[in-house]
Amino acid sequence: MTNPPEIFSERYRSDGSLRGNILEWLDARLPLTPFWRKHFSAYYVPKNFNFLYFFGSIGLVVLAIQLITGIFLLMYYKPDASLNADGLPAAFSSVEHIMRDVNWGWLIRYMHSTGASAFFFVVYMHIFRCMLYGSYRKPRELLWIIGILIFFLLMAEAFTGYVLPWGQMSFWAAQVITDLMSVLPFVGETLVSWLRGGFSVGDATLGRFFSLHVVCIPLALIFLVLLHLLALREVGSNNPDGIEIYGCADAVDARGKPLDGIPFHPYYTVKEILGIAIFLTVFFALVFFAPEGGGYLLERANFSPADPLKTPEHIETLWYFSPFYSMLRAIDQPVLGIDAKFLGALAMNSSIGILTLLPWLDRSPAKSIRYRGPIFKILLPLFALAFLTLGFLGKQPPEYLLFGLIPANRAAQSATLFYFLFFLTMPWWSKIDKCKPQRPRLK
Ligand code: HEM
Repeated sequence: MTNPPEIFSERYRSDGSLRGNILEWLDARLPLTPFWRKHFSAYYVPKNFNFLYFFGSIGLVVLAIQLITGIFLLMYYKPDASLNADGLPAAFSSVEHIMRDVNWGWLIRYMHSTGASAFFFVVYMHIFRCMLYGSYRKPRELLWIIGILIFFLLMAEAFTGYVLPWGQMSFWAAQVITDLMSVLPFVGETLVSWLRGGFSVGDATLGRFFSLHVVCIPLALIFLVLLHLLALREVGSNNPDGIEIYGCADAVDARGKPLDGIPFHPYYTVKEILGIAIFLTVFFALVFFAPEGGGYLLERANFSPADPLKTPEHIETLWYFSPFYSMLRAIDQPVLGIDAKFLGALAMNSSIGILTLLPWLDRSPAKSIRYRGPIFKILLPLFALAFLTLGFLGKQPPEYLLFGLIPANRAAQSATLFYFLFFLTMPWWSKIDKCKPQRPRLK
C-alpha cells in the first residue's frame, strides 16, 4: 500500500477525523480564501467612487437575471415558424402558452423582456460614466475596447431575441436588418440569403437566430465579460477624479497599500448592495406594474403573429436601438453617387466602431470632467443630447416634425453629423481646451 498523500496527514488526525474547519479543508484543495483576499478583502480601490460606479455590478446582476430566466423560458419555447391547427405560428403560440398556462411563466417572461431594456439602460449609463471620467484613457484602452465588443454582442443578442416570439415586429425587423447586408458589394445578396437560410425570412431564419441567441452569443458574452473583469483587475479602477491611486511614489504606504484606496470588501460590497437593491426595486416595479412600459419594453405590434403578407404601417425599433436606426434612416439620398442604403448602414456601424478610437482621439491632459475645460463641459452634454434626440426621432414616423417645424430627417441628419464631428474633431478641441491643474493625490 502506498503512503497517503501529504495533504491527508496535514488535514486529518490518525483516526481519520478532520483537523481544523471546513474552510481550511477547502483551502487546502482550492484557494478560496486567497481568492477572496486577492479580489475582495485586500483589493484596494479608490475611496471616492460615486453612484455611477454601481452600474458595472448592476450589469453583472442583469446578466445573471437574463441567463437564469432564459434557461426557464427555454423549457417551453418552440423555435418553429410553421402554423398550428389554430392558424398561429408555433413559436408565437409557445410564448402565449408561457404567459397564460405555465406556472409563473408570465413573471419569467416579463423579467426577461424587461431585463433586456434594463441591460441597455445600465450599459448606456456605464459607458457615459466612462466618458465623464475618461475611464477609456491609458492604461484602460483594452478594457474599453472589450467593453465595446460586449456592447456589440449585446445588440446582436437583443436583436436575435426580439425575433423569437415571431410577432409582426419580430418578422419585419428581421426582414429589414438582414436586408442591410445586401449593401455589401459582390457578396451582399449571397450573405443575405445565407443569413436568412432562404430567399426570405422564415423558419430557417428563426432556427438560426434561436441557436445564436441561446448558445453562441451568450457564451461569447460570458467569455468577454470575464475578460473585461480580468483586464479591470490588471489596471485597477479609475475614479471620478481621474487620478490613479498608485500614480505617484508618496501615494502608497510602507507596505505598498495606496493611501487613497480602501478595501473593496466590506466598503464597496455594502455600498453596491444598496445600489443593486434600488435597481431591483425599480426593475420589479416595472415587471409587476408596467411590463409593457407603454410600448417601450414590449411593443404592441409584436402582440400580433408574424404575417409575411402584411407589412406593418410603421416599422419601428426598440428604444435601445433607436439612435442607430435613426442614423440608418437619416441618409435617404445618395451622396457623390454612393447608394443611400450603403451610407446609412455604414453610418450606423461606424457610430459604434468609432468608439474604439476614443482612447487615442482624446488628447486632453486631464481624464475627468472635474479637471477638464469648458469646451468638454459644453460638448459632452451636447453629444448626449444629440444621441437622445436620435433616439427620440428613431421612434417617430418619417413625416414627423420636431417642435412642429424641423422635418424628422433633417433633425436626424444634423444630430448624426454632430455625433461624428464630436469624435472626429476631438484631437483638436481636447488639446486646446483649458484644463485645471490636476492634483497628484485625491483630496
Ligand atoms: C455586460 C456588460 C458589462 C458588464 C457586466 C461590465 C462590468 C464592469 C464592472 C463590474 C466594472 C467595474 C465596476 C465599475 O467600474 O463600474 C466595469 C468597469 C469598466 N467597464 Fe464595464 N461592463 C460591461 C460593459 C461595458 C461596456 C459596454 C463598456 C464600454 C464600451 C465598458 C467599459 C468599462 C470600463 C472602461 C471600465 C473601467 C471604469 C473605471 O474604472 O472607471 N464596460 N465593467
